[in-house]
Parts: sequence; C-alpha cells; structure tokens
Amino acid sequence: AGPEPACIPPQLGEGSLRLLRRVGRVDPASLDDYRAHDGYAALRHAFSLGPEGVIRELKDSKLQGRGGAAFPTGVKWEAVARQPAQPHYLVCNADESEPGTFKDRVLLEGDPFAVIEAMTIAAYATNCTRGYVYMRGEYPQAHRALERALAQARSRGYLGDGILGERFSFEIEIRKGAGAYICGEETAIFESIEGKRGEPRNKPPFPVVEGLFGKPTVVNNVETLVNVLDVVLRSGPGFAETGTESSTGTKLFCLSGHVARPGVYEVPFGVTLRDLLDLAGGVPGGRSLQAVLMGGAAGGFLRPDELDLPLTFEGVREAKTTLGSGVVMALDDTVDLPRFLMRIAAFFRNESCGQCVPCRVGTVRQQEALARLLSGRTNGGVARELAVIAEVGQCMRDASICGLGQTASSAIESAIGRLGVFQGGAA
Ligand code: NAI
Ligand code: SF4
Repeated sequence: AGPEPACIPPQLGEGSLRLLRRVGRVDPASLDDYRAHDGYAALRHAFSLGPEGVIRELKDSKLQGRGGAAFPTGVKWEAVARQPAQPHYLVCNADESEPGTFKDRVLLEGDPFAVIEAMTIAAYATNCTRGYVYMRGEYPQAHRALERALAQARSRGYLGDGILGERFSFEIEIRKGAGAYICGEETAIFESIEGKRGEPRNKPPFPVVEGLFGKPTVVNNVETLVNVLDVVLRSGPGFAETGTESSTGTKLFCLSGHVARPGVYEVPFGVTLRDLLDLAGGVPGGRSLQAVLMGGAAGGFLRPDELDLPLTFEGVREAKTTLGSGVVMALDDTVDLPRFLMRIAAFFRNESCGQCVPCRVGTVRQQEALARLLSGRTNGGVARELAVIAEVGQCMRDASICGLGQTASSAIESAIGRLGVFQGGAA
C-alpha cells in the first residue's frame, strides 16, 4: 500500500493554495495522478525557457529562501550557474528539525513528485547532474513516499539520462540524518553526506563557490524548491503579484501549541498574526494568550498586544523576531514561561556540536544561569544573572561559527526583554 496522504486543516480558501494545492488531493504514490494534477508542466516550460530564462524568472519573482534565512533564491542559483568549477551539486535540505516545524514533512509526504520536479528544474538551471535530499531520520513516511516517487520518476524517464528527450541528465539520492539538529545546517549536511562528522564549516567560502565535495553547490529548503514550480508556471512577475513588495508569494506556517486546530497553513505574505491564529481557531478552552513564539527556538516572542503584526520578512524583523522556518507556537496563560525557557536552553546545550568554544561553553553557562534564576538561588541577584545571560548571548552571537550558537540566546533574551520574564519577581 502507498503512503497515506498527508492531512492539512481547512485553509483560508481553495483558490489561495499554491504549495498545498495537491496535498490531500493527489495520490502521492502515483506519477500519473501527479501529471493529471498539472505535474511536470513546469519542467516542460522550464526546458522551453532555457537555464538563463529560468534564473531570470526566479530573480523577477523575488523568491526568498524558506528554510529560515530568506536569502534570494535567484541570486543563489545564478552564482552556482556561473561557477566554472565542475561538477555542480544540488542539495535539498529536508532535515527539518527546528522545534515546532513540520511544513516540509507535509510537502514530502503529500506531494513528493513536486519536490522531485522542482529539484530537476533547479538542477537544469544551475547545471547540476546530481542532487541529494538530506532528510531528517525521524521522517520515515516522508522517506518512503519520496523513495517510491523517485523510483517511478526514474522508470518513466523523468530522472536519469536525457530527461524528457532533452540533453539533460540528472539523478537524485536520499541521505538520511541520524537525529542531530546541527545536521540541518547546510555545511554540516555536506560533511555528513561526505561521510564525516556533521560539523558546520566556516563561511565564507559559501556553498555556491565551495560546497559538497568542495564543488559549487545549490542548497535549498523543500518549501523554497516547491515554490519554483509556481514561479516557472506563473512567470516571475506573476508570482510576485502575491504577497507584499519585498516578501512575495505565500508562506507555510506551522501552528502549534494552544490553538484549536494545529497544523500547516498556507497564507499570502502580509496577513497578520491575528488572522493566522484565527484561522487555526484561536486559543481553546476560554483561556487567554500569554505569548507567541515565532521562528522556533532560534526565534523570538511576541506579546498578545502585537498580533496585528503583518507576517512578512521585513515586518517581523522590525519586531526583532524572525519568521524562521514558519513556527508559530501559541502559549496560553497556563504555560510556565521560565520552565519553557529552560527547555529551550537544554535543547541548545544538547544540540551544540561542541566544535567552537562560544557555543559549547555559552549554551552551558546560559542554562546554568536560567537554572539559578528558576531555583531562586541566584549568584548575586536577579539583575546580575540577567546580565550574565545577556553577556553570554552577545558572545555566542559574535563569535560562534554557525547559526546554532548565533541564535541560541535569541528566544531567551526575547522572553526577558519583551515579556519581562524573571523581572518583577518571576525568579
Ligand atoms: P545564512 O544567512 O548564513 O545563509 C542563508 C543562505 O544564503 C545559505 O544557503 C548561504 O549559503 C547563503 N548565503 C548567504 N550569504 C551568501 C553570499 N554572500 N553569497 C552566496 N550565498 C550566500 O543562514 P543559515 O545559517 O543557512 O540559516 C539560518 C536559518 O536557518 C535561521 O534563520 C533559522 O530560522 C533556520 N533554521 C531552520 C531550521 C529548520 O528546521 N527548517 C532549523 C534550524 C535553523
Ligand atoms: Fe557547533 Fe555551536 Fe560552533 Fe555551530 S556554533 S559549529 S553548533 S559549536
């Protein structure tokens, strides 16, 4: 039996769905059904545009990466396409491990051929002959769905040599992670695929110049790639008509915590956080909202009086948080925030790869300071402990090699600064 189709909750409106439009409607185990739902129309059109034409549309679309960092996808593809060193590699980052993130899983399970088609277009535009899907080991259903889809695509000429009769060959391999959060960092993925310990590399050089096996490499998140289908089908400017001037298209958000209907929601950029929470049925059980964690453990908190914030990359940046990988975790008034912060601190301490001192030591010091605040046995008073947390956070931001250390204090400092946790007697 094929994998069960992924379930998504009721959305804003049928017509507004782009990325999720096939999920729950198409049989993820059938290439024919995928084709009957518009599948492979984008690849055919991409072949008619040519590699430069695809990149032009992508740049015009202003698509930004959906893994969390919002880097312009067209700029990244162009940089790889121009590299003289050969071969070029493509890596689809499916190591979705940010706490509260489960959007890529829905795409992989519910529409795996879309991921394959989008990767094929990316490879065509950037002159890659081999692609890897680096998938979180805890996603067995997504793994099965993708493996089955890859086998069908291969047997029907959508992968391999001379795809659809073009002079273009491309193959995709799946590599499974083994449960380390850090292996979602792009250069740690390279190390892991190369058979080494998953530790991030220093950047620069950026992967577009020196990535997997030391060669120019495109790394894109699953959601970013699936957007490419729409960019090609609608044209770059057509894609950019949805959303706002700087944040174009739609975004998948992962609603979790205290909402009536948790799940993955697709909305155009620019809707407010209030709209999104309403879509998920709001806070259940007559309780009131205490805070919303945006962007996951590496993100920041918003207060209930900030719900009218438009969800755009630039909007949340102004509010000193991030959309990150689309985490929206609602916390009602029953949540013990200091203990919640301790969980985040423990998470970073456990997941630090230990390679660089600021992060290896900083995440421990951060957790220790929080533990003292929680127990009430502070070292010189609450203000002094908060100063320690701020100083350790600054050091990790300034001197850590990768994003894990650089953001390990973000949510904790945001809770202290924005929500006033530990101030006013919480400790
Ligand atoms: P980054 O800002 O270093 O890079 C983003 C992308 O742009 C990378 O692919 C990088 O190679 C590329 N890039 C940056 N500057 C470049 C340049 N000058 N030339 C060419 N390419 C360039 O961010 P990073 O560390 O890759 O990602 C951090 C984000 O990941 C965070 O915002 C966080 O939200 C997110 N994240 C997502 C997780 C998930 O499960 N989806 C898990 C953990 C973090
Ligand atoms: Fe490893 Fe942390 Fe340094 Fe990143 S910042 S390389 S996770 S020790």
